[in-house]
Amino acid sequence: MEIEFSEKFLRVLKDAKYTAVSTGAGVSAESGVPTFRGEDGLWKKFRAEELATFEAFQANPDLVWEWYQYRREIINKIKPNLGHYAIAEFSNLFDKFQLITQNVDGLHRVAGSEDIIELHGNIKRNRCLECGDINYDEEFAEFPPLCKCGGRLRPDVVWFGELLPAGALEKAYEAAKGCDLFFTVGTSGVVQPAASLPSAARQHGAFVVEINIEATELTFIVDQHFRGKSGEILPAIVDKIKELRGLK
Ligand code: OAD
Ligand code: ZN
Repeated sequence: MEIEFSEKFLRVLKDAKYTAVSTGAGVSAESGVPTFRGEDGLWKKFRAEELATFEAFQANPDLVWEWYQYRREIINKIKPNLGHYAIAEFSNLFDKFQLITQNVDGLHRVAGSEDIIELHGNIKRNRCLECGDINYDEEFAEFPPLCKCGGRLRPDVVWFGELLPAGALEKAYEAAKGCDLFFTVGTSGVVQPAASLPSAARQHGAFVVEINIEATELTFIVDQHFRGKSGEILPAIVDKIKELRGLK
């Protein structure tokens, strides 16, 4: 895909030593993972407060587990797209790189990214409410599933009103504040605290770029906005970085 690079952005791409990328559901949309707030978004069909809160889980663990098993089935069938693979290449193109995601689908890891800050957890993981044990089981002897210790298992994701995993937010802020170039990709920018990372990056001097098919809450604070699909724009940016750095 042909995209237009401003002089400023070209200079930053050439010189950036430390880049951070923060992703949301949009980066997985081209793989077939439903987003949350779009026209066919999950929150148009389901009520978040009935499914993605601890209160909902306590009141109706069967329903909440069914919903997560349904989403796991979708995720198990799909593959990363060109956007995930482009991001995986970023780590080889800069001295320092940090990936931050709100996604729980694990597709960045499948595409080859390492050291990923998963702000909202991982849908493939189960955690015991009693002993804290983690496992990746997908089939369960009983439903709703129980841990070996007899405690109740839950999906190891962050629900509304819950704290992010210990250390994840601190590490994400460190990256936002320390990087020279920050990308916010495929997120509507309405869920805190993830939505504050681009402005933290900007305040600390990073050049901030948004990639999204539409304008968002974040568009007005970024230095550069690319309107289009992440699976098309990110590979074009990777190509340009390689060209600027004499890597192709
Ligand atoms: P949203 O569904 O709110 O936003 C997805 C964004 O991706 C929108 O801004 C779309 O315009 C954009 N988009 C869609 N397809 C795209 C594509 N091919 N390329 C680029 N952009 C595209 O999802 P998030 O912002 O990730 O939290 O939502 C944040 C959090 O809200 C989620 O992590 C989840 C949800 O409730 C929890 O469950 C805690
Ligand atoms: Zn247990």
